[in-house]
Amino acid sequence: MSHRNQTLGEFIIENQSAFKYTSGELSRLINSIRLAAKVVNHEVNKAGLVDIIGTAGDTNIQGEDQQKLDVYANDTFIKTLTKRNIVCGIASEEEDDFISINSQDENHQNKYVVLIDPLDGSSNIDVNVSVGTIFSVYRRVTPVGTPVTIEDFLQKGNQQVAAGYVVYGTSTMLVYTTGHGVNGFTLNPAIGSFYLSHPNMQFPENGRIYSVNEGNYIHFPKGIKDYIKYCQMEEGDRPYTSRYIGSLVSDFHRNMIKGGIYLYPKSSMNAKGKLRLLYECNPMAFLAEQANGKASDGFTRIMDIQPSELHERVPFICGSKNMVEKAEEFMRNA
Ligand code: AHG
Ligand code: MN
Ligand code: MN
Repeated sequence: MSHRNQTLGEFIIENQSAFKYTSGELSRLINSIRLAAKVVNHEVNKAGLVDIIGTAGDTNIQGEDQQKLDVYANDTFIKTLTKRNIVCGIASEEEDDFISINSQDENHQNKYVVLIDPLDGSSNIDVNVSVGTIFSVYRRVTPVGTPVTIEDFLQKGNQQVAAGYVVYGTSTMLVYTTGHGVNGFTLNPAIGSFYLSHPNMQFPENGRIYSVNEGNYIHFPKGIKDYIKYCQMEEGDRPYTSRYIGSLVSDFHRNMIKGGIYLYPKSSMNAKGKLRLLYECNPMAFLAEQANGKASDGFTRIMDIQPSELHERVPFICGSKNMVEKAEEFMRNA
């Protein structure tokens, strides 16, 4: 079958045998993420309309509703994953602690834990700019039959069995990996199905785009400043350009397609950067590596970092391989 006609549902079934563990649970898990993504997409698309209602009615509603969309996305993903009896635990950027699923999984037979950033780039909602959802899946390390513990969530990124994101953009896309490359699916909103539109996505080895919040420049470490200066310098054949949406999912997505680097370094304001290792950096690192890119904290491979707490932050440099390596070189020599 030509990939142009293949739906995500068909793709999942066809590729199930390629999974390391073939019980079908991981397929069902991806399926439930697909469903939650459609539900959240519907709500995100209404954000502008809610604005109009807000202006006509209650002047305070805009800010409140924007906040609600974070919560809505969080609840939708948690409910969908819980009800389908697939996962034993969920950790979310929006929750203080992890959730142990007992209601549907009384005997704790489920094997997978999911970590999510339900709405990434949430400051972009009220200005009609792309937002996203990021997810990451691990097999539990504690024995089946017992409740999940923090250990099940504090695994290194290199233990991920699946990761991906949804980008609610000009089109809505679901992009994911199970360790066999990265595939992107675009939602046909008329039909409500995702179609394989971007098979085997790859970061170009070199790129021309650097994405960083340059407003924080004076607070960055010397190595990062040097790298940014290197990008700005007009020398020979390296005309770099800057693009920063402020929504990791969207910046990553563009850079994967066009070639580029995303940086959220530590700074004198944020000693460990801003992005969360478990909900943002690890899943994006897994996708990057599966797409021939690279992800690092400037010195160490992101996926080799041992997490010590759920909401841990880490400096993040991710994208086209040669660009990330160049940035690391500047960090080493600073
Ligand atoms: P979230 O909306 O989940 O809190 O994440 C926002 C993150 C990331 O998506 C984005 O790249 C970064 O924060 C932007 O931060 P600055 O506004 O500091 O540049
Ligand atoms: Mn985020
Ligand atoms: Mn978020």
